[in-house]
Amino acid sequence: MEKIVILTGAGISAESGLGTFRDEGGLWSRHPIEDVATPEGFARDPALVQGFYNARRVQAARAQPNAAHRALARLQRNWPGEVVIVTQNVDSLHEAGGAQGVIHMHGTLAGALCAACGHRWPAPDEMAVGEPCPACTRPTARPDVVWFGEMPYHMDEIYDHLAGASIFAAIGTSGQVYPAAAFVHEAIAAGARTVELNLEPSAGVSSFDETVFGPATQVVPAWVDGLLGQR
Ligand code: OAD
Repeated sequence: MEKIVILTGAGISAESGLGTFRDEGGLWSRHPIEDVATPEGFARDPALVQGFYNARRVQAARAQPNAAHRALARLQRNWPGEVVIVTQNVDSLHEAGGAQGVIHMHGTLAGALCAACGHRWPAPDEMAVGEPCPACTRPTARPDVVWFGEMPYHMDEIYDHLAGASIFAAIGTSGQVYPAAAFVHEAIAAGARTVELNLEPSAGVSSFDETVFGPATQVVPAWVDGLLGQR
């Protein structure tokens, strides 16, 4: 049974109104990475960092899944083999679109993490600076998102999936952040057919067997239709 592993990035949620990072006017052009997405930035100015993620959490909670999220959920339901969705996104739009078992390698805005004891719990809409951990009571709550310099989550599980992939697709990601940007090479080593679906060629475009360029809400449903039609 052919297994499909899909990596998604900010581009799949762009048409749901959530900003990407590196496109013109993207999040990182307005909020320097070292200020809002590193442990050092958090230590320096926790209020700035909590404020940044509080705003993104509110925005993500209001966003609706789009046709691309829904198409991937449809692929999961109708493909005879396994369809694994690995996302770099911290929104929950894959789940809202009906996907199951989504692997959030960069964490989730919906989660809180204790920087001291590692306890995890659902994040409140607004996380305050110095919010106490419900387990150890220390004032060390932080968003459960992966920052630069930290290890992404679920890597062993992801590499296991890639090793068994027959088809690998990267959707809406610029291919500039590792280790996700190297997943295509793992998939190639496993003998998978690889496809990039993106608005424009990513940094790693030359590695893919097939490329489709256009907005995710158009190219992803069409790609899913093609796969399901081949069966
Ligand atoms: P980027 O902002 O780097 O790239 C977004 C990609 O989506 C670009 O290649 C765009 O061309 C494409 N894109 C934009 N609109 C699109 C649309 N409507 N349809 C399809 N594609 C579209 O975002 P990511 O690659 O997700 O990590 O960034 C990877 C990681 O870098 C993020 O998870 C985040 C960031 O720093 C952390 O914060 C750890």
